[in-house]
Amino acid sequence: MTEISKKLVSIVIPTFNENDNIALLVKRIAAALARVDFEIVIVDDNSTDGTSRTAEELSATYPVKVVVRQNERGLASAVVRGFKESRGDIIGVMDADLQHPPETLAAMIDSIEKGADVCIASRYVPGGGCEGWSLLRRIESKAATLFAHLFLSITRPVKDPMSGYFMVTRQSIAGIDLHPTGYKILLEILVKGKIHKTDEVPYMFQVRERGSSKLNARQQLEYLQHIYELMRYTGEFKRIAKYCIVGASGVIVDEGIFWLLTSFTGILNVLAAAISAECAIVTNYTFNNFFTFADRSTPGVRSFLKRLLKFNLVSLSGIGIKLAVFWVLTLVFGSYDLLFNLCGIAVATVWNYTVNTWWTWK
Ligand code: GDD
Ligand code: MN
Repeated sequence: MTEISKKLVSIVIPTFNENDNIALLVKRIAAALARVDFEIVIVDDNSTDGTSRTAEELSATYPVKVVVRQNERGLASAVVRGFKESRGDIIGVMDADLQHPPETLAAMIDSIEKGADVCIASRYVPGGGCEGWSLLRRIESKAATLFAHLFLSITRPVKDPMSGYFMVTRQSIAGIDLHPTGYKILLEILVKGKIHKTDEVPYMFQVRERGSSKLNARQQLEYLQHIYELMRYTGEFKRIAKYCIVGASGVIVDEGIFWLLTSFTGILNVLAAAISAECAIVTNYTFNNFFTFADRSTPGVRSFLKRLLKFNLVSLSGIGIKLAVFWVLTLVFGSYDLLFNLCGIAVATVWNYTVNTWWTWK
């Protein structure tokens, strides 16, 4: 650390049955922050293993404050409670089980001092990673991250929005109503906080040596619910709904024109299909431009046409993806034409939507 913070740094730690970890954790934090003015706020959900008693004992030697919640459970809500009970201008959040090495805290304070509103200890920037994770767990984690990036566009610049180890200025969450569901408090802060600058510093997610993880299927479901709630908050849910309505209108246009062309002209079916598809692309584009992405479209014929070209390219790539999905599934599982066609449509729709929000209407 180049500069030492003169501000009070509060470290908020949610605990549930972490009696075997908490003492060593507090000692390591105190060593890591030897030159910093800090406090530790432990929010315990009435653990049955004596965590809060041990924490109280630690408060004789270290600047530890213990809050015990009797009737509530949940990591994210415990952290929000910790925010309320803490006094520092800078607030750190970390797990109690030593999977988040306290030695990273100094670099995080440094980054906040240099102007970041949030500094995330990240597994997915160079130098970071997960110790001893199986391939399956890695894929799960990446999939959950991709999910956040897809549906909460504000998280896209952040490599590890799923991290539970981060630091934030009090200013950027002051007056904000945080209502997190489940485990991922950082998502809530990234979406609702007054954040201008985020930063990530690498760390190695350690193996849990003592105690057990509390993450289970329920928390994973809550994660989906949380993403949905945040999508309602940002308006992204509404946008996707509009996009789907426009997509459905395109099916009608496509079918209608195809019918007209094949019934009343003598042109080849393939040609009729191509023409009707292009007509649907144009009407879809127009509706999306003035309805789905009305907030992002810019006036002028040039930009209208430029976007139309982009939208066309995206639609074309979508058709390619649909065919590829269909082909691969059929190759692997045999022929279930209708089902696999539907799978192709689903993947292509997600692809089209993502690229359109990312590129066509940036
Ligand atoms: N107060 C309280 N109440 N604390 C809880 C609760 C609860 O209901 N559930 C879990 N905790 C505490 C644990 O005691 C621990 O200190 C911390 O929250 C993390 O819980 P783990 O169960 O160890 O989580 P994990 O290792 O599976 O997941 C962690 O790693 C993720 C990265 O993959 C979490 O920190 C995530 O936030 C992080 O993103
Ligand atoms: Mn853990």
